[in-house]
Amino acid sequence: MQTRPLGRTGRSVSAIGLGTWQLGADWGQVSQIDALAVLGAAAAHGVTLFDTADVYGDGRSESLIGEFLAAAPEHGITVATKMGRRLPQNPENYNPDNFHAWAERSRRNLGVDTLDLVQLHCPPSSVIAADDTWSALDDLVAEGIVAAYGVSVETCAQALDALSRPNLTNIQIIFNPFRLKPLDEVLPAARAAQVAVFARVPLASGLLSGRYTEQTTFASDDHRSYNRNGEAFDRGETFSGVDYAIGLTAARRLAATLPDGVSLPAATLAWIASRPGVTTVIPGARNVRQAQGNADAGALLDGGFDLAAFDATVHEVYDDLLRAAIHPLW
Ligand SMILES: NC(=O)c1ccc[n+]([C@@H]2O[C@H](COP(=O)([O-])OP(=O)(O)OC[C@H]3O[C@@H](n4cnc5c(N)ncnc54)[C@H](OP(=O)(O)O)[C@@H]3O)[C@@H](O)[C@H]2O)c1
Repeated sequence: MQTRPLGRTGRSVSAIGLGTWQLGADWGQVSQIDALAVLGAAAAHGVTLFDTADVYGDGRSESLIGEFLAAAPEHGITVATKMGRRLPQNPENYNPDNFHAWAERSRRNLGVDTLDLVQLHCPPSSVIAADDTWSALDDLVAEGIVAAYGVSVETCAQALDALSRPNLTNIQIIFNPFRLKPLDEVLPAARAAQVAVFARVPLASGLLSGRYTEQTTFASDDHRSYNRNGEAFDRGETFSGVDYAIGLTAARRLAATLPDGVSLPAATLAWIASRPGVTTVIPGARNVRQAQGNADAGALLDGGFDLAAFDATVHEVYDDLLRAAIHPLW
């Protein structure tokens, strides 16, 4: 597994990480035993970066990671958590008192004195633009509560605004074959600023697994049932904001070009991780098989797969089917 620097922290993280929203809630049920097995499988296959948030299952995802770290500290995992979504998205809720309370809760859940990395969780644009936000985060670092901070964003414009902040460690943004704008707008700027980029929703919520059909259904407590039109949170977080039927067509076109033995999710993860400026790609996994398969996709970065040919197909499919609907929005 390749590793890359985590911004200017001096730490390195694996090119393929693990997203753990699935281990909290919103994706149907994942038992505690299965969730711990997913964490173990990812770590055993070279993953050293777990992405979580204080709201995933109201702390369940963080607590499971805390339990895993206590039992298996030898893996050298960096945990990136998020804060900001425990209260309504009023800019004034992003204040020093709440930052302290949220960070304190995450420290308890994860069982650590200092949080490795805290990302603001898709805050309003005005929060990203405010000097006070960043000085409050600097204070958390000075107090030893967090080692580093970053921000998860919805749009490229928000990413570029955040990149002007000198102590930013990472940007987390949706980037996948159905979302190409960050390629031109965010990755070069982040690279120049030595800010890490985490590519989230890399499989477009599973559409890029290539497994779904027109007949696929999702549980009622799965956001792929209840947030297709942005009813609960930003529409872009579900299937990357892509119309389901168009996504199926696009995924089939991508899969049709792959050589035998290379799956669409593996090709997708390797392609994302190989784009200059991407630090790590954080696929969510609901079971051990997915966690292992995703980690093992890291091997495609070391040769044996024609990334340039796949890159050309990704651009063709995006331009034909997706650019007009997706590019202007995020
Ligand atoms: N606002 C934010 O900051 C934010 C928002 C969204 C996500 N995130 C983070 O980003 C992570 C990744 O995004 P995501 O989980 O939303 O979407 P994703 O990684 O694009 O898709 C995850 C889904 O893809 C399917 N999948 C994963 N690996 C597979 C494999 N090897 N083969 C076949 N199918 C596979 C699974 O679908 P099934 O469930 O159908 O098995 C899984 O639930 C999250 O876990 C979270 O940590 C952050």
